[in-house]
Amino acid sequence: MRRVATLYSSSVGKKIAMALSGVILFGFVLLHMLGNLKAFEGREAMDSYAEFLRAVGTPVVPEYGVLWAVRLLLLVALGVHGTAAYQLWRQSRKARTQGYRKSRSQTFGYASRTMRWGGVIVLAFVIYHLLHMTTGTVHPDFEYGSVYDNLVIGFQSIPVTAFYLVAVGALSVHLHHGLWSVFATLGNQNPRLDRIRRPAAAAISIGLFVGYAIVPLAVLLGVLTLG
Ligand code: HEM
Repeated sequence: MRRVATLYSSSVGKKIAMALSGVILFGFVLLHMLGNLKAFEGREAMDSYAEFLRAVGTPVVPEYGVLWAVRLLLLVALGVHGTAAYQLWRQSRKARTQGYRKSRSQTFGYASRTMRWGGVIVLAFVIYHLLHMTTGTVHPDFEYGSVYDNLVIGFQSIPVTAFYLVAVGALSVHLHHGLWSVFATLGNQNPRLDRIRRPAAAAISIGLFVGYAIVPLAVLLGVLTLG
């Protein structure tokens, strides 16, 4: 445990923590996108998939047991990811302002600024999204368990859909840079991976954007309906 704490106190340790927590969050983002596509199979398929997620693991673990374990893991991963990002930003700001005075744009690179703001937008979106699709607090007509109907009714509003599209856009830009940095680190030891890291990061993040955006757009275009 002390070795983990010592490693974490270095900036390399914080970057490793960011990469590991990032991989967990990425895994969720990928699976959630695939799960959302169940909407194209209809109400029955989507609602029973959601029901399966609540019951998975029974009777070995109680209903909701696995779901809560996953929620906890995601919360920890999000906490580690955000804390390490904040600490690294503070460290680099301190190191740089103690050195030469540079112009603001040089001191805080474009990529790191985009990552910070992208991260903040995604976090704000996740809070709104939980209140919208999970608790129904900000949903106009929420019914627990009616996941398909909640989704269709939720995206019939143009401003709501627009916000989702901006958020998943920010998420894919954020992921693009995150994947690119992880691939760059792995690519140091592997020249073949190094060559494909740009197209791979672009393909994965564009794929995720399309996979997420297609659901709200299908509602607005009348492909997914309540009928
Ligand atoms: C257009 C894109 C999205 C759609 C259509 C969508 C849809 C949904 C729906 C319908 C639920 C409720 C599921 C249920 O009650 O069983 C849900 C839950 C959730 N979504 Fe999304 N989502 C989208 C994007 C995202 C993104 C980008 C993230 C994260 C970055 C995210 C994170 C979550 C989380 C954390 C939950 C709660 C899961 C739980 O603990 O039960 N969603 N989403």
